[in-house]
Amino acid sequence: MAARRCDSALVTGANRGIGLELVRQLAEAPRPPSLIFAGCRDPAGPRAKDLKDLAEKHSNLVTIIRLDTSDPESIRQAAGEAGSRLAGRGLDLLINNAGVNTPGQLRDTGMKDMVDVFVTNTVGPLLVTKDFLPYLQRAASQPGSGVGVAGTTPLVINVSTLLSSMEKCPETFSMAPMYSYRASKAALNMLTRCLAEEFKKDGIVVTAIHPGWVKTDMGGPKAPVAVVDSAKGMLRVISTLTDKHSGMLLDWEGSSIPW
Ligand SMILES: NC(=O)c1ccc[n+]([C@@H]2O[C@H](COP(=O)([O-])OP(=O)(O)OC[C@H]3O[C@@H](n4cnc5c(N)ncnc54)[C@H](OP(=O)(O)O)[C@@H]3O)[C@@H](O)[C@H]2O)c1
Repeated sequence: MAARRCDSALVTGANRGIGLELVRQLAEAPRPPSLIFAGCRDPAGPRAKDLKDLAEKHSNLVTIIRLDTSDPESIRQAAGEAGSRLAGRGLDLLINNAGVNTPGQLRDTGMKDMVDVFVTNTVGPLLVTKDFLPYLQRAASQPGSGVGVAGTTPLVINVSTLLSSMEKCPETFSMAPMYSYRASKAALNMLTRCLAEEFKKDGIVVTAIHPGWVKTDMGGPKAPVAVVDSAKGMLRVISTLTDKHSGMLLDWEGSSIPW
């Protein structure tokens, strides 16, 4: 049976940076998903302007949903709204992109920094995945289910980072001694592995992707990778994922990163 194309996607943290560019490229793809949910914690605020312009340009494809990934009630409501719009269809692609970083060294890192960063970078993706699971399962049960160009199953993508790699830490630590950020993304990697195991029975692939060091508010102006190239690379990698990649940490060019 021919693979079904990716027909629906959700990107969290979609109002700026990598998330916004992922939504733009999904909407401007030759065969775009017919429903692209762009999660944004404050759709009425000034930081949502670029996303609103994009959604207006592609009003037939892009739906902005209020989604604060650090707020369980917001996640529940977003899942309910997406479910109504899906109207019986499944969700083919979930990109847990929303993330925060406090560039704190050890002396600057307190309990609040650790907890706040964990809530957004680790707990948020877990709760979003859990509340959207029924739609991912529905997509998996649809005949000929498939994601992207070559995939065969619904996908959960957790946007991680090279800085989460314990093996690479001796090489990367001095340039970015970010305690809370590194620990939260290493924990996200473990969630990726756990969810990959749990979802095997559902036929849902869960993969962590490092987007590169990208020129965004978070990556800063010295980052070598343009946001357009990062998103393009990530979507190319996403389009090639199969169950063999479930539970892995890959980079935006498709190379595997050691834990
Ligand atoms: N840039 C890099 O070099 C780099 C490298 C490795 C990994 N990453 C990862 O890539 C992802 C995107 O990073 P970026 O560079 O695009 O960062 P960014 O420019 O700082 O954008 C972060 C996005 O996440 C959203 N966000 C933060 N907390 C949220 C919450 N509680 N609920 C909903 N949305 C929330 C922000 O929304 P607001 O506007 O409302 O704050 C914004 O849309 C992150 O997971 C990051 O860790 C980035």
